[in-house]
Amino acid sequence: MTSIKKTKIAVLPGDGIGPEVTEQAKKVMNAVAERFDCYFEYCYADVGAVAIDHFNDPLPDITLEACLNAEAILFGAIGDPKYDNDPKAKVRPEQGLLRLRKELGLYANIRPVASYEKLLHLSPLREDRVKGVDLVIYRELTGGIYFGEKGTSADGKQAFDTCTYQVEEIQRIARLAFEQAMLRRGKLTLVDKANVMETSRLWRQTVKELANDYPKVKLDFMFVDNAAMQLIQNPAQFDVMLTSNMFGDILSDEASVLTGSMGLLPSASIGVHTSMFEPIHGSYPQAAGQDIANPMAAILSAAMLVESLGMTEAATAIRLAVQHILEKGIGTPELQPSVVYGCSQIGDLTAHLVAEPNEEILVREDKLQQKVSTII
Ligand code: IPM
Ligand code: MG
Repeated sequence: MTSIKKTKIAVLPGDGIGPEVTEQAKKVMNAVAERFDCYFEYCYADVGAVAIDHFNDPLPDITLEACLNAEAILFGAIGDPKYDNDPKAKVRPEQGLLRLRKELGLYANIRPVASYEKLLHLSPLREDRVKGVDLVIYRELTGGIYFGEKGTSADGKQAFDTCTYQVEEIQRIARLAFEQAMLRRGKLTLVDKANVMETSRLWRQTVKELANDYPKVKLDFMFVDNAAMQLIQNPAQFDVMLTSNMFGDILSDEASVLTGSMGLLPSASIGVHTSMFEPIHGSYPQAAGQDIANPMAAILSAAMLVESLGMTEAATAIRLAVQHILEKGIGTPELQPSVVYGCSQIGDLTAHLVAEPNEEILVREDKLQQKVSTII
C-alpha cells in the first residue's frame, strides 16, 4: 500500500465573508487532493474580530501555534465596521494580521494582477488600456513605517510614525522580485520616493547593487507618485513592481481595481515561517452570509498555496477551472455575468472541474504543462 502525502493546512477564515469564501477554497483543495492523490489536514483557528469576540485577542496564542505547525495558511478576511470609526479602540482586528505577519516573518507580499479578456468591460479604465495587463507587486511586509517606532505625546497634540529599513530587509525581498522577473518578462520596477526619503535612497542603492547578480533583468526606477499615475495611464507597461510596505499597500489597492474584478485577485505572503495565502478583498461585512460573495480570489489563493507546495499541475488545474467558468459567462452578481451563481455554487463547480476536468480544460492543461512558470 502506498502512503498518501499529508499536508497540514491552518485555516483562518476570519471575519465577514472570510468564512464563506474560504469554505469554497477548501472544497477546491479537496478536489485537488482527490485528483492528485494527496491529503490536506485542516486546522481551523480564529483571527481578527471573531477572535476578539472569543478570546479578547485578535491573534490568540493557539492561532499562532496552529500557523507555526502548518505547512501553509489559508486566510479569509479581517475587519469589522464596529472598530473602524473608533480611534480609541484598544484592540483592533487588523492588529491580528500585522502581528501574524511579524511573528511568521512574512516579509514579502505578492499580488499578481492580470486582466481577463471576458471581463475587460468591468474595468474603470478604457478597455484598450487594461487589455494585456499582467503585473505582480512585491510589497515588503514586515518593515517600514508599519512597524517603526510610533507614539503620541502626553497632551495628545502630536503623533509620529517612523520609517526604518535595513539593507538585509531590502535585499531579501528584492532577490525574490528579481527571480520572479526572470521567470516572467524580465522587467523590474522599483517604486520609491528617493527624491525625498532617506529610506528610499537606501532601497535604490541596495537594489542597484543587487542588479549585478541579475544581468538578464531590466531594472528601472519610478517615484511612487508617478507610479500611481502610470498605473492608470499605462498599466500594461509593468511586469514586476517592487516596493516598501506603505507604498505597496496603497499601490496594490489601486492595481487591484484596474481589471474591474477585485473578487478575482489572490495573494501570497511568504518569508521565514509558514506562508500565508489570502484573497486581497476585505471582509465585506454587508455581503456576509448572503451567498453572493465571489470566492474566486480565495480559490485562486488556494492555487498559489498548492503551487508553493510544488503542486504546479494542481495550481494550473485550479486556474483553468476558474478561467473556464468565467469564459462560460458564469459568475457571482458583481461580475454581471450571463449566468448568476452564488458563492457556494461557484465553489462546487470549480471543485467539480478540478476533480473531473472536461475535454476543453484537458486540452489547455496539456498545452500549459510545457511552460508553467511559478509565481512563488
Ligand atoms: C492589506 C491590508 C492591511 C495592511 C490592513 C488590514 C492592516 O490593507 O493587507 O493590504 O494595511 O497591510
Ligand atoms: Mg491594504
